[in-house]
Amino acid sequence: MTTTTATATTTATTTITTAEHPSEHTSVNPRPYPSLPTGAKRLAFIGLGVMGGPMAAHLALAGHSVTVYNRTASKAEQWVSALSQKAPHSRLASASTPAQAAAGADMVFCCVGNDEDVRSVTLGEAGALAGMAAGAVLVDHTTASAQLARALYAQAQAQGVGFVDAPVSGGQAGAQNGQLTVMCGGDAAVFEQVAPVMACFARACTLMGESGSGQLTKMVNQICIAGLLQGLSEAVAFGQKAGLDMDAALAVIGQGAAQSWQLDHRGRTMARDEFNFGFAVDWMRKDLSLVLAEAARNGARLPVTALVDQFYADVQAQGGNRWDTSSLITRLR
Ligand SMILES: NC(=O)c1ccc[n+]([C@@H]2O[C@H](COP(=O)([O-])OP(=O)(O)OC[C@H]3O[C@@H](n4cnc5c(N)ncnc54)[C@H](OP(=O)(O)O)[C@@H]3O)[C@@H](O)[C@H]2O)c1
Repeated sequence: MTTTTATATTTATTTITTAEHPSEHTSVNPRPYPSLPTGAKRLAFIGLGVMGGPMAAHLALAGHSVTVYNRTASKAEQWVSALSQKAPHSRLASASTPAQAAAGADMVFCCVGNDEDVRSVTLGEAGALAGMAAGAVLVDHTTASAQLARALYAQAQAQGVGFVDAPVSGGQAGAQNGQLTVMCGGDAAVFEQVAPVMACFARACTLMGESGSGQLTKMVNQICIAGLLQGLSEAVAFGQKAGLDMDAALAVIGQGAAQSWQLDHRGRTMARDEFNFGFAVDWMRKDLSLVLAEAARNGARLPVTALVDQFYADVQAQGGNRWDTSSLITRLR
């Protein structure tokens, strides 16, 4: 296992939001960036959503040349316009297909929704792989299946291109602050090439093993979170019914063995029924379906995860598709 962390050598200090229309995909808080011994790279970034937009922005702010592609073209144009002002020394452009964005790039990064979306931007005549030359590397930051990662690895290898599956953890704030955790699968030599570039938007990039290992590690992450959030929901709902001051109760137990990131960051907001904090229930259900399909293949027993998946289906049924994942507590009201 290899972990790479960023060494800061240059610093940018501006905060970017589009002037009149603050937008999730161009909002980024610059941070110190590593400088590469081999200089700036020619990069492509496909998928400028809540996660991809700020990730690509960090690459531009770090001085790399970045050509972006987004299905909704206006978002790509808006991204180029916002970033051109803040990173005037970086060559920034948008392309009309993933293949065009990837043409001539040393590395191509992708962050779209699910397996099918990844296939549609990487494969076929207009897909990124069609534009990539031997020696280039494709990095997929989408949370997708390990099977797809292995298939793309094989397809890329057949044309002399490297492939790394690299799902992320850290949410929208992690993307905007350039503090994501990246879990990677692939070849060590290829990982070593791309890790210093990923360090522009990550606090840690770790190679977990062969192709698919990054996605499997992200599944482990989601299993932990699903069970933990149901436990935290029951704890908060119980405490409120018992008449406790939950701010005080969470502050006390957060000093002991019950402490967790979710308790620290979501406990009080759950108590107030506030569910507008990033990672959405629809995304969680997508991730849990990947987890449960993988468990059906490898024989792992996930009774609590399967139950929590159904609880999230209940939340969707009451209109909570875009609520954040702590909204599990609404079933207990
Ligand atoms: N949001 C989080 O907190 C978070 C945290 C960790 C991991 N993730 C994972 O990161 C990935 C992206 O999440 P996100 O929150 O950035 O999603 P998002 O805001 O919905 O953005 C999705 C991006 O993918 C593009 N896209 C989707 N389907 C496509 C297709 N078939 N062809 C071409 N482009 C397509 C969208 O283009 P349009 O603009 O045209 O729709 C958009 O740029 C997901 O796999 C998610 O599970 C998200």
